[in-house]
Amino acid sequence: FKTLDQIDVAGKVVLVRLDLNVPMKDGVVTDATRIERQAPTVRALAERGARVVVLSHFDRPKGKVVPSMSLKPVAAPLAAAIGRPVAFAEDCIGDTAAAVVGRLGDGEVALLENLRFHAGEEKNEAGFADALASLGQVFISDAFSCAHRAHASTVGLAERLPTAAGLSMQAELEALGAALAEPQRPVAAIVGGAKVSTKIDLLNNLVARVDAVIIGGGMANTFLHAQGIAVGKSLCEADLAETARGILAKAEAAGCKVVLPVDAVVAREFKAGADNRTVDVAEVAADEMILDVGPKTVAEIEACLAGSKTLLWNGPFGAFEIQPFDAATVAVAKAVEKLTSGGTLASIAGGGDTVAALAHAGVVDALTYVSTAGGAFLEYCEGKELPGVAALSR
Ligand code: 3PG
Repeated sequence: FKTLDQIDVAGKVVLVRLDLNVPMKDGVVTDATRIERQAPTVRALAERGARVVVLSHFDRPKGKVVPSMSLKPVAAPLAAAIGRPVAFAEDCIGDTAAAVVGRLGDGEVALLENLRFHAGEEKNEAGFADALASLGQVFISDAFSCAHRAHASTVGLAERLPTAAGLSMQAELEALGAALAEPQRPVAAIVGGAKVSTKIDLLNNLVARVDAVIIGGGMANTFLHAQGIAVGKSLCEADLAETARGILAKAEAAGCKVVLPVDAVVAREFKAGADNRTVDVAEVAADEMILDVGPKTVAEIEACLAGSKTLLWNGPFGAFEIQPFDAATVAVAKAVEKLTSGGTLASIAGGGDTVAALAHAGVVDALTYVSTAGGAFLEYCEGKELPGVAALSR
């Protein structure tokens, strides 16, 4: 695909798809990480004399105008991040949008209202994509976290205008490619989170591609149960025991080592500071639940990571939101931080709760790359083709 420096933008109206679907409370942006990650693309375009028109969705208004889902509150944080004023258009197509775009001078920036206020966006309707495309001459796709959606603003525009990847799209694809397409081996993957059911495709793809899979979080209980270990009152998807055994068999056939908990921190209540004890996994009582992995397991994980050159991390260990059940997540995160700064491990993490867990451990900036994408990160790691990425190469 083309990169930003390979496309002529001076004096042109450039439509830039960002993902400004950021956390917001009472009309105030509460975490600007995504905005800051994508700001360099907008800045670079403006510096090169483009008339920059920023497109994004916000939340899921399902094709209707929902005032609480307006992108207007994002204009000021975007302006702060790029260091330039940002004009706002109350609609993303039609006369309203065209008037705001028409007033832009070279190097100026406008943000258009939520794309998903129009049903044509998610359906990638030709009429809607044509209306968007008619606003500009060049398309820059910078929303990797939306690339799993085949929408007008991720696929339709790439079919209609000269297209290049933005800087954050390029960084995401390079980092994920380095972890999965052409990694330094051995590669370890940490797959955590509550449920196996949401990670079946991920696990099946990873065991065939990486050298070790470390399973943590609630989903590890399902694997223990599948191996005949009683997990008491722990979170467990008993109906997925067969699926779990299938994943273990596939891993064995592929020569992928699977690291499962050997000890656990258990409690009778799911609350901060609950009375707890550390036991081998075979000793969980019927009225206890596993809320974290224990120190023997942490040592095994650390040994596995010390022997790895690349780590792909998706999903937390344990109930990291409540203390003291965050101990393993924090310990493993610190080990990853040390190995990364020591130069022996390339660490790539992403997806939903993962970033929150790493932030809790204070290591987000210490990893080689942390993706801000949720669903798109997962689908990439599942080995699926992302329509928004495929559209860049056509
Ligand atoms: C995300 O937050 O993961 C992206 O903005 C995609 O949002 P969506 O799941 O509503 O398409």
